[in-house]
Amino acid sequence: MNEPDLSVSLGRLRLKNPVMPASGTFNFGKEYAEYFDLNQMGAVVNKSVMLQPRQGNAPPRIVETPCGMLSSIGLPSQGIEEFLTVQLPFMRALECAAIVSVSGTSAEEFGELVSVLDRAGGVDALELNLSCPNFVDKVIFATDCGLMAEVLQECRRRTSLPLIAKLSPNVTDIVQMARLAEKHGADMLCAVNTFTGMAIDVRTRRPVLGTVTGGLSGPAIKPIVLRMVWQITQAVGLPVIACGGISNGTDAVEFLLAGAAAVQVGTANFINPLAIPETIAGIRQYMLDSGPHSVTEIIGAAWRRSAAGR
Ligand code: SIN
Repeated sequence: MNEPDLSVSLGRLRLKNPVMPASGTFNFGKEYAEYFDLNQMGAVVNKSVMLQPRQGNAPPRIVETPCGMLSSIGLPSQGIEEFLTVQLPFMRALECAAIVSVSGTSAEEFGELVSVLDRAGGVDALELNLSCPNFVDKVIFATDCGLMAEVLQECRRRTSLPLIAKLSPNVTDIVQMARLAEKHGADMLCAVNTFTGMAIDVRTRRPVLGTVTGGLSGPAIKPIVLRMVWQITQAVGLPVIACGGISNGTDAVEFLLAGAAAVQVGTANFINPLAIPETIAGIRQYMLDSGPHSVTEIIGAAWRRSAAGR
């Protein structure tokens, strides 16, 4: 039996398989090392690091919803200094790509983080978290064309490392934002962050989350994200990393067929700490069962079939 080739190239970024954690659901990986060999992953992605230490939002910060989770963590971070001395060495030591997620409150802050990480060495790509919906009183960069362009230009100026723009689904036209990211220097897209939502406790008659609204993630959003990935990959030439409700190999294959070049497993990690290795195994099994030797053969296969009228 021929072992399937799960490797993918996202521009200059080569991954041994297309599966990685979604930022914010995996810390920087250490806790999950108790459950599986992290070297199996295509890449490791940390919870977004901020320039300065910050505590994040007031609790309650998480509430379970049907088929999903609302969260408003507010990007707590130990800051870049701790990241460089504790988290990055751990990520770099893994036998997979190290994708560093960064977030900031201004273009300058993003630019500063990007510069520092460019000089740090051992970073394979930078994911720009332009889309956290839980910054109290702060903008969501990826919902404003001007601001998103400004951040991307600033980051592009400061590094030649591959830049991944993490898009927000909370926009009218996701394709427009994807095109804008391409125009202003992104090498890849991550589609998408969470959908703004809320929950009310009928006993207290108050919003459940401390910040009233939060970001919806998990299987509930998967069909919407699949549609977005389908639309983006047909309109934009950049590799797309899909993120939204992917919990197993079948979900991952759906996104690859829709045109994603890689996938992130997020909320599923909280329910099943083995969701990532099981997703990798599920893709491999799909390939063994259905034929293609290389995973690249299934990327975008659904829209090629659709165009051919089948
Ligand atoms: C959070 O920390 O509130 C979530 C981060 C994000 O969605 O980008």
